[in-house]
Amino acid sequence: MNTLTKLSGGPHKGYRANHAKGIVVQGEFVPAKSAATISKAVHLQTAASPVTVRFSDATGLPNIPDANGNAFPKGIAIRFQLPDGGYTDIVSISTNGFPAAKPEDFLGLLNAVAASGPDAPKPSPVEQFLGTHPAALKFVQMPKPAPVSFATEAFYGVNAFKFTNASGTTQYGRYRITPVKGAEFLTQEQADKTTPNYLFEELPVRLAKAPAAFKIAVQLAEKGDEVNDPTIVWPETRNIVELGTLTLKAVDPKGSEIEKTTMFNPLVLVEGIEPSADPILLARPAAYAVSYSRRLAN
Ligand code: HEM
Repeated sequence: MNTLTKLSGGPHKGYRANHAKGIVVQGEFVPAKSAATISKAVHLQTAASPVTVRFSDATGLPNIPDANGNAFPKGIAIRFQLPDGGYTDIVSISTNGFPAAKPEDFLGLLNAVAASGPDAPKPSPVEQFLGTHPAALKFVQMPKPAPVSFATEAFYGVNAFKFTNASGTTQYGRYRITPVKGAEFLTQEQADKTTPNYLFEELPVRLAKAPAAFKIAVQLAEKGDEVNDPTIVWPETRNIVELGTLTLKAVDPKGSEIEKTTMFNPLVLVEGIEPSADPILLARPAAYAVSYSRRLAN
């Protein structure tokens, strides 16, 4: 947390320590028939749920230019309003995989980045870290093209969850959130010409014309797949089951108020969905809560 804040030159009063620059959209989720085969979760049965979605740029910099290399991965946080007045969240990023298997390795990477300013000796701390941590190197080298829109980006759950259906059948899976019309990216040349807030300017214009839809699905683990390590990506041949359609309707004019007072939490779950034992997943709520309490205190 403190390292994330330091990296962004913060604290930036009232903002998240990571994924600080965001935009809030209101919409709806309609479950697919196949969803109930995976989970008995209330929002995955037949009824539609109102949803609040927050898209974000990476880092704790509230003014980071959207096409800047450090503004990747992009984030999506989805809150499903449940019939009993409660909610459940999905919080995902635009890369299939994470740079660290354990919270201490993630902190090690952030500390190495923080210690690698222009005056750092060569090899710099981050070069040394990447030399000894292949998953972090793979993540850093992963192509992260700039999307045309937040509505044309594909997002991945990265951490696995355990899904249980009404018959008691249990399966591990990772979320996939994919634009219905297909992902669309800019060329590097186009990205270089974008305005600093191009994604934030584009989304309200797009949604004023027509809603934008994503499919939410789950990539299912097969026997032997590592479910507790988010650096290990499962093969594309794994079965993907559709959970439903997320429709984005309008940017919320009260978005900046909502995002300040909302903490999305990947472990606010409902019956039928449980966390895996992935240590990164289990570490997230405590870190988010520190960031949240500092945001509210400002
Ligand atoms: C130990 C590992 C991690 C740490 C320490 C960490 C830290 C943080 C912190 C401090 C925040 C700000 C939360 C708030 O103020 O409300 C945040 C937000 C976020 N994180 Fe993580 N994170 C981790 C792993 C992940 C992973 C694995 C993903 C994706 C699967 C992810 C996706 C996001 C997204 C999308 C947000 C923005 C949520 C929003 O819009 O409110 N993080 N993270």
